[in-house]
Amino acid sequence: MVIQTSKVSESRTNPNQQNFIHEIEEGLLAHSASISPKFLYDPLGSHLFTAITLLPEYYPTATEKSILNHYQAEIAEAVGTGGTLIDLGAGNCLKAESLFTFLKPSHYVAIDFSEEYLHDALENLRSKYPQIQMHNIAMDFSRELILPDFIPNDDRIFFYPGSSIGNFLTSEAQALLTQIKEQAGNGSLLIGVDLMKEDHILKAAYDDPLKVTAAFNLNILRSINSLIGSNFNISQFRHQVMINHAENRVELYLEALEDLSVFWPGNSKLFKKGDLIHTENSHKYTIHSIQQLLADAGFKSTKIWVDPKDYFAVILAH
Ligand code: AVJ
Repeated sequence: MVIQTSKVSESRTNPNQQNFIHEIEEGLLAHSASISPKFLYDPLGSHLFTAITLLPEYYPTATEKSILNHYQAEIAEAVGTGGTLIDLGAGNCLKAESLFTFLKPSHYVAIDFSEEYLHDALENLRSKYPQIQMHNIAMDFSRELILPDFIPNDDRIFFYPGSSIGNFLTSEAQALLTQIKEQAGNGSLLIGVDLMKEDHILKAAYDDPLKVTAAFNLNILRSINSLIGSNFNISQFRHQVMINHAENRVELYLEALEDLSVFWPGNSKLFKKGDLIHTENSHKYTIHSIQQLLADAGFKSTKIWVDPKDYFAVILAH
């Protein structure tokens, strides 16, 4: 059974996926097991994330949207029009599309880890906005941000919405922001960051009563099964959310509901009842902490827009 599973998954894996097998194994075999949050976004996971953004409890998406909408004239004035919009983690491309009317980009570059999902989303956009030149790039920019030569150098606007930066540890975030700064040249970065707030609001956002976030988190095990040929049984785990005040972040885990073993070609791992697999960090910032991070990455100036409740910030950094 196990061998057969491995053969099937090997014939499906592309070179990109092969690189991830080692990373996944290392995380699973560590004393405190972990799986990188980027593996949440297989095709089903990407759809589940879109469903999360529609939940009333998940305030970041709607709040960011309201800020971008309310301050669009100011943002367009500060960013300038006609540039190359480079969307980091484009997903369904809906957020970038909402900028098209006021930033009027000449080029749109959609980058995402999930190739299939991105491809379909961009096909739709191309026919809707024939005046914008569009490119899609499937890339794991959490490792290294390299843009192909055909992307224009001038007036680049990096768009990094949704507080996705919050997935990274401070050192990793700084490394990524430094690369963005280098690639932006005379351009800018428009970034959305989630601000620190009361526990009960965070809890509801990451442990919603409809259990969409639980499904999103548990789905990472299906994603891993297809990537490395493991035999995780989803019903042996449950979604867990913790708020780590010392580190200013929400942490997602999968907790083993019983003693169990997971096998995959060449290896296995024993989980005891109550053992946790860490799947995601979602860092929350203060205006001060994000400004510090941007300054450390080499950005010289920032403009900041927030919502009336101070839940979320949209920042333009030069
Ligand atoms: C896409 C990383 C910004 O951290 O809020 C949503 C992912 N995880 N619910 C976040 C997520 C659980 C999201 N980011």
